[in-house]
Amino acid sequence: MARRPYVIDELISAKAIAARVEALAKEIEIAFAGTDKLIVVGLLRGSFVFIADLVRELELPVEVDFLEASSYGNEMTSSREVRILKDLRGEIGGRDVLVVEDIVDTGFTLKHVIGLLESRGPRRLETIALLDKPSRREVDIKATWTGFEIPDAFVVGYGIDYAQRNRNLPYIGSVRFTE
Ligand code: IMP
Repeated sequence: MARRPYVIDELISAKAIAARVEALAKEIEIAFAGTDKLIVVGLLRGSFVFIADLVRELELPVEVDFLEASSYGNEMTSSREVRILKDLRGEIGGRDVLVVEDIVDTGFTLKHVIGLLESRGPRRLETIALLDKPSRREVDIKATWTGFEIPDAFVVGYGIDYAQRNRNLPYIGSVRFTE
């Protein structure tokens, strides 16, 4: 895959992420206190590090499942088509569901996934996004919980890629093209 030359500037340290994940887990524990029906759904691939850290902080009985969606721009309608590339393995009817997203950017992906999962009749459905870029939003959607609001930058690390690289960085950095 072609990549333009770039450097990465640290935006959010590993330590700051860990502290925020711990705080978010506490809020989720309170919101879902007493449940024995929680399924945490990670949106592949960008959320895999976040979901791994988040579920290890959650002192609740949880199941974990994954969904992979991909969104494509459609210049004719200035909208996006969201396709499901990998569906959940399990049923979510009557269950409590927490959808875990890496970044809410335009919002098309999260909106589509919420619509799809709501149609399957969960008892409750909430969402969490590690990062939110509100200035990029094209559809009216906000995750129940957000880790960090960030400016309109292209970011990598902590599961998030640039052309499939940099998912393994322990921090979030912004990509700065050098040419
Ligand atoms: P949305 O449908 O525009 O909200 O797109 C959300 C998806 O786009 C995220 O789950 C990411 O996979 C990808 N994305 C958005 N912004 C970035 C970024 O800054 N770096 C890497 N991927 C991004």
